[in-house]
Amino acid sequence: MKLLVTGGAGFIGSNYIRYAREQHPDYKIICVDLLTYAGNMENIAEFTSDKEHFAFYRCDIANKEEIENVFSKENPDIVINFAAESHVDRSLENPSLFLRTNILGTQVLMDACLKHNVKRFHQISTDEVYGDLPLDRPNLKFTEENKIKTSSPYSASKASADLLVSAYHRTFKLPATISRCSNNYGPYHFPEKLIPLVISRAVSDEKIPVYGKGENVRDWIYVEDHCSAIDKIIHIGEVGNVYNVGGNSEKRNIDVVKEIIKQLGKSEDLITFVKDRPGHDLRYAIDSTKIQKELGWKPMTSFEVGIEKTIKWYLANEPWWKNIISGEYQQYYQKMYANREI
Ligand code: NAD
Ligand code: TYD
Repeated sequence: MKLLVTGGAGFIGSNYIRYAREQHPDYKIICVDLLTYAGNMENIAEFTSDKEHFAFYRCDIANKEEIENVFSKENPDIVINFAAESHVDRSLENPSLFLRTNILGTQVLMDACLKHNVKRFHQISTDEVYGDLPLDRPNLKFTEENKIKTSSPYSASKASADLLVSAYHRTFKLPATISRCSNNYGPYHFPEKLIPLVISRAVSDEKIPVYGKGENVRDWIYVEDHCSAIDKIIHIGEVGNVYNVGGNSEKRNIDVVKEIIKQLGKSEDLITFVKDRPGHDLRYAIDSTKIQKELGWKPMTSFEVGIEKTIKWYLANEPWWKNIISGEYQQYYQKMYANREI
């Protein structure tokens, strides 16, 4: 079996490759990644020497020729599209990059899948396509039947890609599935996102920026649980279906931040409230009954266990994130957070 994984040098993609190497040691995994600021060969360094089971191509999913070249060389059976511009805040600065990679890139990949008779195309989508939920109705959760209703250029680009995937399935009979997952956390998470940002800054006793009052709620899932869900869907999921994937761990941002500070033995004085993100989604919560009932999946790692494992990983792998935050990231941080304190 040949599995082509796009965005495999990023956070979730590299965790999925690690999961798939363990679960399916006989599969060949072909990783396609442009190595943008978020892609890092260190995330997949342990796999690159095994040429029989692993191949890497640095290429752009929105570049038809480059993608055609990989597909004709490798003839994959299954394609999983993780590649994307993934950070909401960056999408407010440069929407067009998000539209190009997340929408056109998905279309280029699906055209290649049709041409090469790929048996399954799986789109990694997000719960953000459903918009947000109010803070005062805790029983409301997103099901697969919820309307698409987006807030940021990031979520709009992901939702557009989902619509294209459904259209390719219906009209061109592309054997496609989609998963919509909640906020992931775990090893190799790029330190621009909340949890790794808080860990890396708290370790160095640096101020921790919390948007607004920190009351927004996210449903956190340990990345390995997302990987096991994807693996179930590509093997036993039904073509044409959307599957919601959630961690059953809703937390207010401020509580997440305080828990990390507590575990690191640092002071809550590091918390700095900053100007809110424009259009900031209030709450995400996933109802994952469908994948639980139909595919027998469930999340295995509680937030309490997952956050402890994650903090341990960041403490044991300081060179990995220090290397990232010492480079271009510094300008990014300055640009996004300077003069934002309230
Ligand atoms: P990430 O930013 O860590 O990784 C994205 C990867 O895609 C990087 O390796 C990058 O180099 C690569 N990439 C970007 N543009 C590319 C292009 N044009 N061609 C080829 N490769 C390109 O993102 P992530 O957090 O690992 O997210 C992976 C996927 O999961 C995304 O599709 C995202 O929308 C989705 N998702 C993420 C979360 C989350 O909490 N992180 C939750 C739900 C869904
Ligand atoms: P993030 O990790 O960017 O994921 P998403 O926006 O996709 O949910 O942010 C998670 C939550 O944390 C979100 O409500 C925004 C908030 N946040 C902060 O309060 N401070 C920060 O510096 C960042 C990056 C996020």
